[in-house]
Amino acid sequence: MRIMEKDDIPVLAEWYNSIEFQGEYFTNPQKSKVDWQRDFGTPSPVKVAMDEHEFIIEKKDGARIGHIGYGTCPLHGWVEVGFAIVPKERSKGYGTEAIQLIVDYLFLLKDTPRIMINTDARNKASIRAAEKAGFEREGVIRKGGFTWGQHADCCILGILREDW
Ligand SMILES: CC(C)(COP(=O)(O)OP(=O)(O)OC[C@H]1O[C@@H](n2cnc3c(N)ncnc32)[C@H](O)[C@@H]1OP(=O)(O)O)[C@@H](O)C(=O)NCCC(=O)NCCS
Repeated sequence: MRIMEKDDIPVLAEWYNSIEFQGEYFTNPQKSKVDWQRDFGTPSPVKVAMDEHEFIIEKKDGARIGHIGYGTCPLHGWVEVGFAIVPKERSKGYGTEAIQLIVDYLFLLKDTPRIMINTDARNKASIRAAEKAGFEREGVIRKGGFTWGQHADCCILGILREDW
């Protein structure tokens, strides 16, 4: 894991403009490299308020295989993480390893009581990777997401500092 830099934008634009990368449970709007650069330089007020930070996940040879990031609730101090791995590197353990790393990083860095993940309730890979990294399923937000033209249930998973 290393901090995301402006040089990563062309790769991110390529990833997120690919339907295969976004997968079945993820629909982010298509964005040009120029839009990515603008948003990177001037983050939205929500991103600033949530104090969002993004990391690139690299293999030992420097190949970029995904990203993972977090934001902090300004009111209550809990932290939420989100992540994605490129399709050809999925199901090799990288997602689980990245979640484990960011959990260690965040509990060492921040005085937060909990870290959470909000994912599509049908997203078995995401739920399984989170559980392998120590998260527990806490509940379902009915119709909490909108994916591929459908309102979809979301699964909330969390890990508490005392269970870390
Ligand atoms: C979710 C994601 C990051 C997981 O990363 P990954 O590197 O593929 O995950 P891992 O290899 O560490 O572990 C995945 C686990 O889920 C299982 N899994 C993978 N796909 C699965 C599927 N379709 N159904 C059931 N289990 C599945 C794997 O077998 C593995 O469990 P196991 O070790 O017990 O066999 C990755 O699949 C991805 O990028 N998906 C698209 C983006 C996304 O959905 N991001 C999450 C948004 S919250």
